[in-house]
Order: sequence, then structure tokens, then C-alpha cells
Amino acid sequence: MIKVPFGRPDITKKEIKAVVKVLKNPILAHGPLSHKFETLFAKFTGSKFATSVSSCTAGMHLFYLANNIKKGDEVIVTAQSHVSTAHSISITGARPVFVDCNSYNGTIDINKIKEKITKKTKAISIVHHLGNPADVQSVLKIAKKNKLLVLEDCATALGAKINKKHVGNFGNVGVFSFYPIKHMTTGEGGMVISNDKKIIEKINKLKAFGVNRNYLNRRVPGEYDANLLGLNYRMNEISAAIGIEQIQRFPKFLEIRKKNYNYLVSKIQKKNNFNIVDFKNKKFNGSYYCLCLVVNDKRINRLEVIKKLNKKGVGTSIYYPKPIPQMSYYKKKYGYSSNNFSNAEKFSYRSIALPLGTHLKKKDLDLIANSINKVI
Ligand SMILES: Cc1ncc(COP(=O)(O)O)c(C=O)c1O
Repeated sequence: MIKVPFGRPDITKKEIKAVVKVLKNPILAHGPLSHKFETLFAKFTGSKFATSVSSCTAGMHLFYLANNIKKGDEVIVTAQSHVSTAHSISITGARPVFVDCNSYNGTIDINKIKEKITKKTKAISIVHHLGNPADVQSVLKIAKKNKLLVLEDCATALGAKINKKHVGNFGNVGVFSFYPIKHMTTGEGGMVISNDKKIIEKINKLKAFGVNRNYLNRRVPGEYDANLLGLNYRMNEISAAIGIEQIQRFPKFLEIRKKNYNYLVSKIQKKNNFNIVDFKNKKFNGSYYCLCLVVNDKRINRLEVIKKLNKKGVGTSIYYPKPIPQMSYYKKKYGYSSNNFSNAEKFSYRSIALPLGTHLKKKDLDLIANSINKVI
């Protein structure tokens, strides 16, 4: 039985009180709380603008729609990510062109991007992987030279910084996820940040059916016209109420995650048959999404290790079960050969994600460390 789950939302009386307050009012959508959450989130990330959405996937899809990315276009994307990073491209009709990740922290391999650029390439999507920032500054140089857009998928990177600047502020947009086991939650939800007013204004329209007047700008109820083809990807007021509480508590969450990581690293015995992805870098500040343990010895069966850890009560996860090009949908559609993604294979098939969240007590951390020391 799992005694220490991989992730658990940190919900206190504050969130519960905030939700109950929303439910006692008639405004459950289009309301002021989503705007308040956007303001607080923009302030926290140091971004000029933010718009709340129903998920990170929705936010990324909206970015591509807003830039008219469509069939015939290509978007370069890391192979080592959640399938959402590529699906949000494919759903527009454009083709995701996969690039392997590096061998040390699983972010896009900067040296393999240029060779994938064609006349059809419109954008590069990078992922700040499990709280470790990608080298977005090098990506920006390539993008500028080739007039490409850059999307930063920050789903697992809230709190991560490069040279003290929060991730998501380097590319055209940064997109975050508030799925329950992420750094903070709103149930389901996401946020798009940008320093470009125009892109946020367009996303604001597209996330609400493409109508010209939002709820607050209508002279009489029901008055609007649709001048764009849009979707319903808004965040509701219940989620926004949770988000407002969570973003204010987030600095504490991050501090605890960092402490948990350092404690585990100090307690786990170093061995040659595995390594732990670190967050140490002078330029970068990671955000400790999980402790990513990579099994180096091919003779060790990862599944067996996971089963043994789970049996000892330690919750685990896998980021991610396969490199995206090896997911059946992409394999069938494009028939990518496996040997192009050897680093993504290493992370997908040989890593184990261990918990760092605020739910961990000292005894839980000791259980995790002792179990790893015994099992591997
Ligand atoms: C890197 C990455 N991008 C996108 C997503 C999708 O986020 P959401 O569930 O908010 O759509 C995830 C989810 O785990 C993720 O890990």
C-alpha cells in the first residue's frame, strides 16, 4: 500500500473558504476572481500580462491558433515531454517535428534544433523539464535568426528562473499547468503569460468563442458578435478562487520542495548504478518538481524497482512513459525510428520520479531514502 503518495494537492481551510464563498454567489464564470488570479500570477512571475485558461494544453493550443499555425506548418518540439506538448500542435493540423533531449536534465538538445528547421517551420516549443530550465537563451538566438516563435511549456516549472528571470518570460509565451499534482493547483487549470499585449488580447478572445465583447464590456446582457473562430477554454471562478490562495502560498511550497530535495539527496547513498538529476547551476534556479532518479545500469529492471518501492509504501511516477514520437498516435502517423531519441528513451524508460511535495513529513522522507538505499 502506498503510504507516501507521489503528489497531493496542498489544500487548507483558506482554499475551502474561498471556494465556499464563490459558491454562495451567482457568478461562477466570467467573474472578477479569474482576473485577480491573473494579476497575482503575472506579479509573481514578473510578466506584464497573464490570462487564465482551463488547462496548460488549452493555453498552448490557443497560442498556436492565435498565430495561425495550421496544416502545412511545422513546429519543432522536444521528444521528452507530456504528449500534450505535441498534441497542442497536432490539433491545429501542423506537424510536430521532434528533437531529442540532452542527457543531463531532459530538456531540449540545443545542438539538434538547427538541422530540423525547414521552410515550413513556424515555431519552437521547449519544455522546462521537471523544474529544470531549458537553455531558452540559446533557443532564442536560433529562433531570432530564423524568425520563429518560441513557446515555453512551463507545466512543471513554476518557480524556476534563469538569471533571476522567471521561466515563461523569454519566449513569446509561457504556459503553466495547475493539474492537481503540479507545484500548485486549481483542480484543472492553466495560465498563459507574455510580455506581448497583442498575443494575450488575441488569446483572451480565442479562449471565449472569439467574441468581440467580453462579459464586462457588454452594454446589455447577451450583446456580442463573433469575429474569430474560438473555443471555450476559460478558467471558472471556483478554480480561480483556489488559484488566488495557492499562488500566495507558493513561495512556501517551493521552499519546502527544495528542503525535501536536499534532505533526500543527503540521505540517499551514492551508487554507480543510478544518478539523481540535480538542480545546481549558477545561471538557473530549478523548482524541484520531483526527484528524478535515473537508473544507469541496464541490467536493473526499472519496473521491478518501482514495484519494490511501491510495496514499501513509496509513491512514484514516470515522466514520461514514452518519448512522444514513440506514442502509438505519432508512431502510426509518422513512423519515427526509435534511435533518434536515445536521451529521451533514457529518461522515459529508465527514470523514476519520487515525491518532493509539501505533503511529506520527515518520516516520509526517511522512508523514501531508506527504501531507495535498500532496493537499488
Ligand atoms: C510538460 C507538460 N506539458 C503539458 C502538460 C499538460 O498540462 P494540463 O494537464 O494542464 O493540460 C503536462 C501535464 O503533466 C506536462 O507535464
